[in-house]
Amino acid sequence: MCGLIGALSRRNVAPLLLDGLKRLEYRGYDSAGLACIDGAGISVHRRVGKVAELERLLQRRMPDSAIGIGHTRWATHGEPEERNAHPQVSRDTIAVVHNGIIENYEGLRKMLEVMGYAFSSDTDTEVVAHLVHYHYAGLSDLFAAVRTAVNQLVGAYAIAVMAADRPDCLVVARQGNPLAVGIGDGEQFVASDAVALLPFTDRFVFLEDGDVACLAADGLSVLDADGQAVERPLQQLDVAGAGADKGPYRHYMLKEIHEQPDALADTIRGCVEHGMLLPAALGFTDRELLQRVQAVHIVACGTSHHAGEVARYWLESVARLPCSVDLASEYRYRDPVVPPGCLFVTLSQSGETADTLAALRYAAKAGYLGTLAICNCPASSLVRESAMHLLTRAGPEIGVASTKAFTTQLLSVLLLTLLLAHRHRHDAQAGRSQLEQLRQVSARVEDVLNLSRRIEALAVPLVNHASALFLGRGPLYPIAREGALKLKEISYIHAEAYASGELKHGPLALVDDQMPVIALAPSNLLLDKQRSNLREVQARKGQLFVFSDRDSGIEAGPGVRLVEMPKVDALSAPIVYAVALQLLAYHAAVLRGSDVDKPRNLAKSVTVE
Ligand code: AGP
Repeated sequence: MCGLIGALSRRNVAPLLLDGLKRLEYRGYDSAGLACIDGAGISVHRRVGKVAELERLLQRRMPDSAIGIGHTRWATHGEPEERNAHPQVSRDTIAVVHNGIIENYEGLRKMLEVMGYAFSSDTDTEVVAHLVHYHYAGLSDLFAAVRTAVNQLVGAYAIAVMAADRPDCLVVARQGNPLAVGIGDGEQFVASDAVALLPFTDRFVFLEDGDVACLAADGLSVLDADGQAVERPLQQLDVAGAGADKGPYRHYMLKEIHEQPDALADTIRGCVEHGMLLPAALGFTDRELLQRVQAVHIVACGTSHHAGEVARYWLESVARLPCSVDLASEYRYRDPVVPPGCLFVTLSQSGETADTLAALRYAAKAGYLGTLAICNCPASSLVRESAMHLLTRAGPEIGVASTKAFTTQLLSVLLLTLLLAHRHRHDAQAGRSQLEQLRQVSARVEDVLNLSRRIEALAVPLVNHASALFLGRGPLYPIAREGALKLKEISYIHAEAYASGELKHGPLALVDDQMPVIALAPSNLLLDKQRSNLREVQARKGQLFVFSDRDSGIEAGPGVRLVEMPKVDALSAPIVYAVALQLLAYHAAVLRGSDVDKPRNLAKSVTVE
């Protein structure tokens, strides 16, 4: 969701900015642009559509400039049109790129119009450009002008600003949206995601909320929200494999689905030593705090929220801890009650999801025992702002539809559950047999990957339908919800998931011979109940697509298509069945010809509330 980049160097930055924008494409966007300063002043280049369109435009005449800013825009204020794309420019003097939303832009726009500024876009960003222009005209100091301007802004933003007569400095500011400054050899960069800058540097300074910074040839100056000079720590990122290409796979999503056996094995390796769970790797550097956890409250969005819903089943049944799970966008507006000894847990792939961050900031003041981020991005705002963190080991995930980040989240919360379940026992063997079982999970996921062709065959009849129902029970109910979300996201087939027991309380009315019903039915304690629900569908001539193992006794037949899944233990089943539904959604999306890695209207990192 919107990507921002800037560069200041001795070499021509235009190709570097283009390269960086390509690396930000995974975030989702609908237009792209860049601006540079050359002999003739600020030159702006913008295109609706993909970065490739912008590249085609620039190939005709590539700018030659030592300073520039670039952007991929996901429309919020104003349609995806060239005039609304970034950079936005004020009176040929100031150019701005911006991520986030300026909430008070209407009032500022009216004020600037009265002052004589003419607007050429519908964006909130143009307000920032004119505001900086106004202050720059008065102060003749770009750093001071940006500081003064951001003091008038309400909302969330990360901005990069340059002035036509200052080709030697780039001023940036953040409030609620991430900004990473990349330090190269005699050159400096900035981006909303460090991934965009990995070809140029592995040394980063992550700005904090309220910071305004000036990048110049002689170094980086940062002022905090109080206007005090501060030094933010320089961090070296481990970039092995980051931004790697698709390899032999047709899409990043397929590659990432296939990376799951390794990612799951890495997750176990990172948290277990000599058959014992490592509390510190699971976030508990403070062992005493681990003993005091009496309840858990999980908050997340989308797919990560589904991982939280599965976690509730585990934390209650295995660790015997009360657990509640909330959507981050709902949580802080419902005035939640915090039970004694409650641990606040966020789940997030990106660690930059605005709703989840806002929930964390609310929770930090709400009297929880502690805050734990379970996250895939070590340098993210969520990790930096949480008291404790547990890093999932999925590696960079590029496909917008989350796959390996989800299954490693599941495994991480499962390991956390086992730690909490056995924390009071002195018996070092406690939990060992469950851990031993979990070591098999990679092999079982591998078995599911080998079913890809069979699952593809199942997707063929599915793609002709406009709608589908997903059914599951127990921890497989949230997996059914995740399966429905995956199908919706990338194939655009409408899908809803229900706990199977709910079928007869309403959705059964939808079932006829045109309704595909995708059911998860591993042989477990709930199998008989699940089979009764499947019979209810069959009696209405619904088209069943069943994922089950041999022991269940469920057979293919008229109206019943079956994928025979490997037999798995109850704890591993959600992870293994999730992979099968990822493959189903993937094949359906390919058959329908959608843009699998960059589905319409969606963004990888949702940085606005
Ligand atoms: C996953 O396929 C989705 N694109 C989306 O629901 C995502 O999980 C959600 O936006 C939360 O993102 P996060 O995990 O980065 O916080």
